[in-house]
Formats: sequence, C-alpha cells, structure tokens
Amino acid sequence: MPVPAPSADARAVVTGASQNIGEGLAIELAARGHNLIVTARRGDVLRALADRIIDQYGVVVEVRPVDLADPTERTKLCDELAARDISILCANAGTATFGPVAALDSAGEKAQVQLNVLGVHDLVLAVLPGMVSRNAGGILISGSAAGNSPIPNNATYAATKAFVNTFSESLRGELKRAGVHVTLLAPGPVRETLPNEHEQSLVEKLIPDFLWISTEYTAKLSLDGLERNKMRIVPGATSKAMSVASGYTPRAIVTPIVGAVYKKLGGG
Ligand SMILES: NC(=O)c1ccc[n+]([C@@H]2O[C@H](COP(=O)([O-])OP(=O)(O)OC[C@H]3O[C@@H](n4cnc5c(N)ncnc54)[C@H](OP(=O)(O)O)[C@@H]3O)[C@@H](O)[C@H]2O)c1
Repeated sequence: MPVPAPSADARAVVTGASQNIGEGLAIELAARGHNLIVTARRGDVLRALADRIIDQYGVVVEVRPVDLADPTERTKLCDELAARDISILCANAGTATFGPVAALDSAGEKAQVQLNVLGVHDLVLAVLPGMVSRNAGGILISGSAAGNSPIPNNATYAATKAFVNTFSESLRGELKRAGVHVTLLAPGPVRETLPNEHEQSLVEKLIPDFLWISTEYTAKLSLDGLERNKMRIVPGATSKAMSVASGYTPRAIVTPIVGAVYKKLGGG
C-alpha cells in the first residue's frame, strides 16, 4: 500500500516547519499536492510560509503555533491530530545543545528531551490508530546520525536521537503489513544555504563545505524514501559512509574521538 495520495480532507503534518528541513518538507509535500498542517513556535514565520505555499501550489495550509516542549500545548495538538485524517506525519522538530551536561542549563536540557523525544513519540501515538484503521499512512521521523553512537559534549541530543532512531526503525518493523510506512531521516549536516564566513556559527565553521547537504534535496529524498517505505534515509555519500562506519566501529573507540570534536562546539 503506497503512502496515501492527496485528498481534500486528509492533511500532511510537518513539525518544525518554520525553517530548514521542516520548511523543505512542507514545500515538497505541497508540490506533491498534499494539504498541510504546519507547526512550530513562531506563528508569524509559519503564516508567511503558508501564504507562499498557498500562492505557489494552491493547497490548503493550516498553521498551528505550538511549543512542543510544553506538555499542555503538545497534548492539545495531539488531541486535534488524533481526531483528524492525517495521511502523513513528518515528526521533524528538534534542537541540540553542545557542551558538558553539568555545565548546561538543566531546564534547557529537559526541554530538549520533551521536544526531541516526546514531541515525536506523543505525535506518532496520536496519529497511529487512525492510520492503522485506514490501513494507510506515512510517518517520517527526523532522527540523526548523532543517534548512532555516544557523543560526549552533545549527550542529551545524541541520547534523544538514539531514542527516535530506534523507535522509528522498530515501529517500521511492526507496521510492515499494516499499510503504514515509517522512514527514519538520519542526516549528517543539512542546511538551506551555506552562509558567508562572517555569519557562520562554530558548528558551520567546523564542518567542511562538501559535507553540507541542501534542505531541498533532503526533503525530496526523504519523501521518496517514505513512499518506498525505506528504513533509513541518509542524504549524501559522505554522510552515508560515515554512518555505516560508525555502525561497525567499537563505541569505546568512536566515543573519545567524537567527544573531542564536539568539545570544540561546546566552547570547551
Ligand atoms: N540540519 C542538520 O544538519 C541536521 C542533522 C541531523 C539531524 N537533524 C534533525 O532534523 C530535524 C530538523 O533539523 P533542522 O536543522 O531543520 O532544525 P532547525 O533549523 O534548528 O529548526 C528546528 C525547527 O524546530 C522548531 N522548534 C524548535 N523548538 C521547538 C519547540 N519547542 N516546539 C516546537 N517547535 C520547535 C523550530 O521552529 P520555531 O523556532 O519557530 O519553534 C524550527 O522550525 C531536527 O530534529 C534535527 O535534530 C538536522
């Protein structure tokens, strides 16, 4: 059973749609004819995106400004989605922090778990019964190559991404015969455009240009992968090779190496 074709009542949902990968997914879904629900915290940015998409593709775009790290706001959105015909869920919103956990703001670390883990898990649980009963649906989860191994100085992020990577790939195994596709997007570095040298963040300065993959390409590849019920999408040959290598290299060897790299990102 393919991912459902666009229909008047069905909605494709994209979380973290206000920029970068989520924005790319929303645009690509609209280009494929899907009516959308887009969500993130910044309602003004979402509304501007919705206007552009409606102008260009003539689809319906509903805007939901929601802080997914807030359990009350998240529950409200989940309740709405559970009652609607959701054909595709792109559980994409996520944030990262860098530095030793002991030195980071604990409220920020907890919010990151709420967003990166429960912001995926709760939304999937909300839409899943409807998809299973219709025998059709697509769930694309934005995990990360960072979830493949321990990363000192990026510990909360790496652990949250290990959760969603494993959740996505496990869920896919359960739903193979239920008509619901589940694909994990586990990218290396992705961004819309490479900024000039003066505007680059430390992360951007430390990652060589050839490793960056565009959001547009990532969105297309991810949705094509979801259509084919691919287990995992890793855009870019270098990221793919690094991802495979990290899967076979003992964690005791990988951990101190990546920890030293990420120490620079935490300003340590
Ligand atoms: N880009 C990469 O290189 C890369 C690599 C590996 C994995 N990933 C994963 O791919 C996903 C998207 O990455 P990205 O680079 O596109 O992220 P990004 O540019 O940092 O954008 C994050 C998105 O999430 C939204 N968001 C942040 N906090 C939120 C909250 N509390 N509640 C609701 N929405 C929130 C943001 O919008 P508002 O600020 O408006 O809320 C924004 O739309 C993430 O899960 C990320 O971990 C990205």
